[in-house]
Amino acid sequence: MLDLLITNATLPDGRANMSVAVRGGRIAEVTQGLQAPAHESVDARGRLLAPPFCDPHFHMDSVLTYGNPRVNESGTLLEGIQLWGELKPTLEADGIVERALAYCDMAVAKGLLAIRSHVDTSDASLLAVDALLDVKRRVAHAIDLQLVAFPQDGVLRSRGGVDNLKRALDKGVDVVGGIPHFERTMAEGAASVKLLCELAAERGKPVDMHCDESDDPLSRHIETLAFEAQRLGLQGRVTGSHVTSMHSMDNYYVSKLLPLIAESGVAIVANPLINITLQGRHDTYPRRRGMTRVPELMRSGITVAFGHDCVMDPWYALGSGDMLEVAHMGLHVAQMTSVRGIRACFDAVTANAAKVMGLGGYGLEAGCDASFVLLQAKDVVEAIRLRANRLKVWRSGRLLAETAECAPVLHRPLK
Ligand code: FE2
Repeated sequence: MLDLLITNATLPDGRANMSVAVRGGRIAEVTQGLQAPAHESVDARGRLLAPPFCDPHFHMDSVLTYGNPRVNESGTLLEGIQLWGELKPTLEADGIVERALAYCDMAVAKGLLAIRSHVDTSDASLLAVDALLDVKRRVAHAIDLQLVAFPQDGVLRSRGGVDNLKRALDKGVDVVGGIPHFERTMAEGAASVKLLCELAAERGKPVDMHCDESDDPLSRHIETLAFEAQRLGLQGRVTGSHVTSMHSMDNYYVSKLLPLIAESGVAIVANPLINITLQGRHDTYPRRRGMTRVPELMRSGITVAFGHDCVMDPWYALGSGDMLEVAHMGLHVAQMTSVRGIRACFDAVTANAAKVMGLGGYGLEAGCDASFVLLQAKDVVEAIRLRANRLKVWRSGRLLAETAECAPVLHRPLK
């Protein structure tokens, strides 16, 4: 007897009339047209059944603080950092936990079951680190929450930066972060990349840094990150997030850089909603989009995923934990409008993001964890087009959330 059987589902790769059988929290079988006794059966009626959405880049310590103590008037990254600096001394652990849990509820309802969140380690009290470690334990039944030790004020630029970051890792933070473009000089930025990669190698941790989140084409810390990943044998464990400077770089230099990144096994995370919002703010017209070169990176064999980055915080007023909104913006900004391109954008918020996070047992195959989302859409293109309703969300075979099917009622139909 199966625990759960979902029939007549369409999978992200386009296979139709598929059945997914679940036993003991794992997928027992994925096959066409299977009928078998189960404690619970769900007829997907041809709808899309996808593995859960994954967000490989988020900031859960600042989520839902929008307007506190004021809004970001210039809309720039730097005013956001300044505003966060004003807000930090007023934060209390209970408030951080409460807001993070509220966001996790929003995420689960949207089928977002894995989040890599950066947590600011600049403050010696490590208040946010303790709060998010608590949140991580509390949501573990529903969400894989990974934490990145993120020295927002610069690991070398801020007093005690290295020590604070090490203490965060000691407490159980999973990943080593960084922000080389915010260090005082290019040389200090490069030194921070070397130091942080060496620390990760020493401790057996992955690396995920904010890297070159800048419109400056000469911000080339991604080159150092790729070099250090290769030198220290960290291939497959290092991620460069944002890398927006690549948008503005010279094509000749990029033609050298892409193979270097591919060779180093460094993955790239773009954050379309935030990149299109924060970058290009010093331009008149034409105004740069600022997002990194997603299709070119993908064509070079580099793993590229999309992150949400911010929801209602000093950097971004909007957002709802909807990774389909992220994919929708990503495909527009990157002009990935072919069917293949749209599918690649769906992968960027599912399979590729899971790969960046190193999630085991992810996918829709026998033996994988029985976590998936049933969408009110017939395929991945429609899912992105409509930012489709999440009808049901399961985690390890257990139903976590449901949203009623929605359809407009037209009082004066036109036909
Ligand atoms: Fe970020």
